[in-house]
Amino acid sequence: MKTVPPEIGPLDARTFENGIPYATFDILRREDPVHWHEPAGVQAGYWSVTRHEDVVAVTRAPETFSSQVGGTTMEDIADPENVEARRTLIDTDGDLHTQMRRIISPRFTPAAVHKGWTTFVEELVASTLDSALVDGELDAVEQLCAVIPITVLGELLGLPHEDRTTLMKLGDEMIASGDPDHAPRTASIGGPDVRFAGYPFSSPAGKDLWEYADGLRKHRRGNPGHDAFSLLMTGQVDGRDLTPRELDNYFSMLVVAGNETTRMALSHAIQALAENPGEFQRLREDPSLLPLATEEVLRWATPLHHFRRTATRDVELGGKQIRTGDKVIMWYISANRDPEVFEDPYRFDVGRSPNRHLTFGGGGKHFCLGNGLARLEIATTLRMLAERLTSIELTGPVVRTRSNLTNGIKSLPVRVRHV
Ligand code: HEM
Repeated sequence: MKTVPPEIGPLDARTFENGIPYATFDILRREDPVHWHEPAGVQAGYWSVTRHEDVVAVTRAPETFSSQVGGTTMEDIADPENVEARRTLIDTDGDLHTQMRRIISPRFTPAAVHKGWTTFVEELVASTLDSALVDGELDAVEQLCAVIPITVLGELLGLPHEDRTTLMKLGDEMIASGDPDHAPRTASIGGPDVRFAGYPFSSPAGKDLWEYADGLRKHRRGNPGHDAFSLLMTGQVDGRDLTPRELDNYFSMLVVAGNETTRMALSHAIQALAENPGEFQRLREDPSLLPLATEEVLRWATPLHHFRRTATRDVELGGKQIRTGDKVIMWYISANRDPEVFEDPYRFDVGRSPNRHLTFGGGGKHFCLGNGLARLEIATTLRMLAERLTSIELTGPVVRTRSNLTNGIKSLPVRVRHV
């Protein structure tokens, strides 16, 4: 058995708070790319899959590696009824998943995103930059990166303006339950709270999001709008409506999927442009690099460190025998630095091509539905930053979220110089 550095074992969220343990992932990828971690505390043992090729293989075999059996996050939910109660689109297998996805997927096609969102996102990014950049000094997360995605999500779901900040905070609390700033209700116990095991992420914020969705449903009943939530209320699976619980879960997943991840990508973009001024200049001088720069930001940021699958049969992967019921963690953060796929993977290169990053997943049925919208938000922001600024400098510490799931930045103080 190879020696694996200990910090990746118990997956302590604090490890990631101080920075991503890339050196550990390098060792795992090189020496034991499908590595078994022994059980720790209440957490079952699990396989860490760290190579690009293996993450793709797991993702593309949904019948062998289920999203539904144990859900898609690291947490082990003891009671199967709670697994079912918390099942979102992303945690659903087979035909039911296809039907659920189809209810809103027409809103996310490239043509629909282009037609429906380009002008809105351009105006939003322009006005956000107008106010954020005025003093030359700003917290880029709070004043810029947080504003754009929640406004887009609010429009997508038809949410009242006054509720959007609350929903963003609930989303943060739910997915970063060990972070003292985001999740004061659960951070003291270090993460998920078993008293809330029947709610998303075993979080009181999951309960609050469900209650919010219940209220929205009652308010919209008989009075649907053109938003995606109304579409979910009227959509059918197997000739029936979604159950209230399915709707609650769809809603709470979209709140997180459509907001936090894009905020993180934008935050890492700004940090990367500040730390790599030469790359910022390259983009400014050659705007045709914008599509490649957007993909590099996505690879560099990898907002979700991992997702989980559960084996439904005995199967071999990377020379290891995986057994029915084993938990399998796919490390996107590691796959996106795999030197077999990315030349000089630790270099931020706005002209990188090809760039087969797995930031939106390894492909197949669950591939991120909102990827086009996220790409539009990121590309528009990069373009306008390059048009308006000559430089971005960090002026203080970058504060990271305490989470082994999300690659969040809570604070990013910067100084900018205008053209
Ligand atoms: C940079 C931003 C984003 C990142 C990094 C991201 C990442 C991901 C990943 C890794 C998955 C799972 C793929 C898998 O299991 O194979 C996923 C699924 C999903 N994402 Fe995103 N996402 C982002 C933005 C968005 C946005 C803006 C929306 C919607 C407004 C969205 C909606 C979804 C949905 C609905 C799913 C579930 C798809 C399914 O299970 O069929 N995402 N995303």
